[in-house]
Amino acid sequence: MKLSRLCAALGAEVRGVDLARLDEAASLAIRDAFHEHLVLVFPDQDLAAGAQVEFTELFGPVEPHPLRTRRTVDGFPAVLIIENREGRPGARNDYWHSDISHAERPPAVTVLHAREVTEGRGDTMFCNMYRAYEALSDGLREDLRGRRALHSGMATYTRSLEHNDARTIDPGEVKPPRAHPVVRTHPATGRPALFVNPHFTIGIEDMTEDESRPLLDTLHAVATRPENVYRHRWRAGDVVMWDNRCTMHYAVMDYTEDMVRLLHRTTAAGDAPR
Ligand code: OGA
Ligand code: MN
Repeated sequence: MKLSRLCAALGAEVRGVDLARLDEAASLAIRDAFHEHLVLVFPDQDLAAGAQVEFTELFGPVEPHPLRTRRTVDGFPAVLIIENREGRPGARNDYWHSDISHAERPPAVTVLHAREVTEGRGDTMFCNMYRAYEALSDGLREDLRGRRALHSGMATYTRSLEHNDARTIDPGEVKPPRAHPVVRTHPATGRPALFVNPHFTIGIEDMTEDESRPLLDTLHAVATRPENVYRHRWRAGDVVMWDNRCTMHYAVMDYTEDMVRLLHRTTAAGDAPR
């Protein structure tokens, strides 16, 4: 197994390993590398849906999407299909976010496996939320301690209405906003990371909209500085996994309906942020 860093901010590429047949030592090495680099890229993999579930399970129980708004692979309700092709435009993910951060226990880890891609289109960007936190002044870090932010699934609901790959969901299924700490401690590394994002975070608890907006804008701007971002250019066969507890991601929307993009997505369950 050979590891190489992808940039200064986060991310490592891992070669010389077949994710469909991992021994105990390789699994442990991957887990360590994941905690150190936050995003891992495994080129040239060929994982069937069952093998992708099995791999994802190394990081926690694999679950279906709570809102059931996406298509899944036949026989594998936890393997979501992310697809863009003629007559079936993909759902957009062109906003910085951490997956389902409005859930009580948001997924810890997301795994995407590219099956078909249009070269040079539909890149995915990632940023490091440990570094975002560390970049703040001592004063602001102090002020954020104990603060909670409100996360809402309404944005997902609204988006699902706009896309024909979405099943109809009842607005009653959208839960009231949920509060999570603005700074969370990663359960495995013990490191503090910012845990807010421009898509799901609608405000800071006990602050007015006018007060929380500029504060959240500042945090998001620090997090998404180019120096804090890795941009992944997809190739068919790539498996890319990221840690939702200490990263955000953004799917670049620079393709049209005729440009094929097909990925399989699994997530491993996480804890309630603390
Ligand atoms: C996701 C997501 C990014 C992409 O699956 O959660 O944001 O590039 N996908 O498809
Ligand atoms: Mn996402």
